[in-house]
Amino acid sequence: MTYPSTYMTYRRSAGKDNASRQNPLTLEQTQEKLPQEKDLGPNNVVIKIHTVSLNYRDVAMLISEYPVPITEQGIPCSDCAAEVVGLGSAVKNFKVGDAVAPICYQGDFDPTDDSNSVAIGANGPGVLREYAVYQAKHLVHLPRNLSWEEGAMLPCAGVTAWNALDSLKTVQKHSSALLQGTGGVSMFSLLLCLAADITPIITSSSNDKIEAIQEKISQKIRGINYKTEDQGAKIKELTNGRGVDFIVNNTGVGSLIDDISYLCARGGTVSLVGFLAGWEADWKPRQLIALMRKGAKLKGISVGSKKDFEEMNSFIEEKKVKFDVMLDRTFGFEDAKKAFDLQLSGNFSGKIVVRVAKVEGRSSCA
Ligand SMILES: NC(=O)c1ccc[n+]([C@@H]2O[C@H](COP(=O)([O-])OP(=O)(O)OC[C@H]3O[C@@H](n4cnc5c(N)ncnc54)[C@H](OP(=O)(O)O)[C@@H]3O)[C@@H](O)[C@H]2O)c1
Repeated sequence: MTYPSTYMTYRRSAGKDNASRQNPLTLEQTQEKLPQEKDLGPNNVVIKIHTVSLNYRDVAMLISEYPVPITEQGIPCSDCAAEVVGLGSAVKNFKVGDAVAPICYQGDFDPTDDSNSVAIGANGPGVLREYAVYQAKHLVHLPRNLSWEEGAMLPCAGVTAWNALDSLKTVQKHSSALLQGTGGVSMFSLLLCLAADITPIITSSSNDKIEAIQEKISQKIRGINYKTEDQGAKIKELTNGRGVDFIVNNTGVGSLIDDISYLCARGGTVSLVGFLAGWEADWKPRQLIALMRKGAKLKGISVGSKKDFEEMNSFIEEKKVKFDVMLDRTFGFEDAKKAFDLQLSGNFSGKIVVRVAKVEGRSSCA
């Protein structure tokens, strides 16, 4: 397969140190050079990016509310689905035409890895561009049962959800999970829960969103309006007094003590994933003792490793899990800024996707 010698990419505008919610960075398009096969390093792989999905972190970086260092004028976004179009001479496990995605934290190969990692789309070059070159060891094969749009939802939101649910390795009979909000991580968790026979309880500020999700996906889904309902009482009612086995905490440390109180009597997991409600908390350290009493686990989530990604992909393919119901809206490459505005507004549920390559040829990762 041949590929062009230049490609279009987005970069964050200059001035990251002065950015704020009132003075956000913007996105700027540039044309850049792409090395031809003869100039590639032996382990390099050239990918043609079909689709990119957005995460809250991508907009948080524009308003300087992301807790990890970012590159000045870096290429944004971490999640894409792509096709291999060029290979270095030593690459063995990929071939032209394979559907792939780069791993989010390049360096995390195994959950016990101690090496330093580069976060693509933050302090490493991201994927909001037509073509990219990554090392073969930083890529995974995507599940063949997914469309390009679904494939792009996996690297950050998907692996995070998988990891937050303990890779579905600790699921007991009658398990249930509390999933905060109707964003990407939450909706991905919801679909994994359904595939693993865990009852998902999703929270939202909108009854309409909850009803739409139940209508579109499954009546097995339970919902709580976090603005108007007493979460503790509602969780008791929905779990026959048992409490939940997992909490996917997307909102931050503020709710941790409440989260622990919502867990079942023994051995549940609170996964600290996000910071949608900020970084502050008004509870006292001694209240964490509740964690000891329940023999429960508080698990910090940093997406997940390449191994986690590959294990999740096997699960998705084996169980034929689909994520198309999570797609809120698709934007063309030229409208990427509008996609970022929608992500920041919170006025969506599930995932927003930017279609980078024109719709032609293969429509899926198969
Ligand atoms: N640790 C990691 O490795 C990792 C990986 C991925 C993401 N994250 C973080 O996890 C969080 C979720 O990410 P995402 O990409 O799924 O976000 P997202 O798609 O932007 O989720 C937005 C949704 O979350 C809900 N929400 C917002 N504020 C809330 C609040 N105070 N209480 C409850 N729900 C609230 C809203 O749902 P409703 O409109 O239905 O109310 C909103 O639509 C973010 O903080 C993100 O940075 C962390």
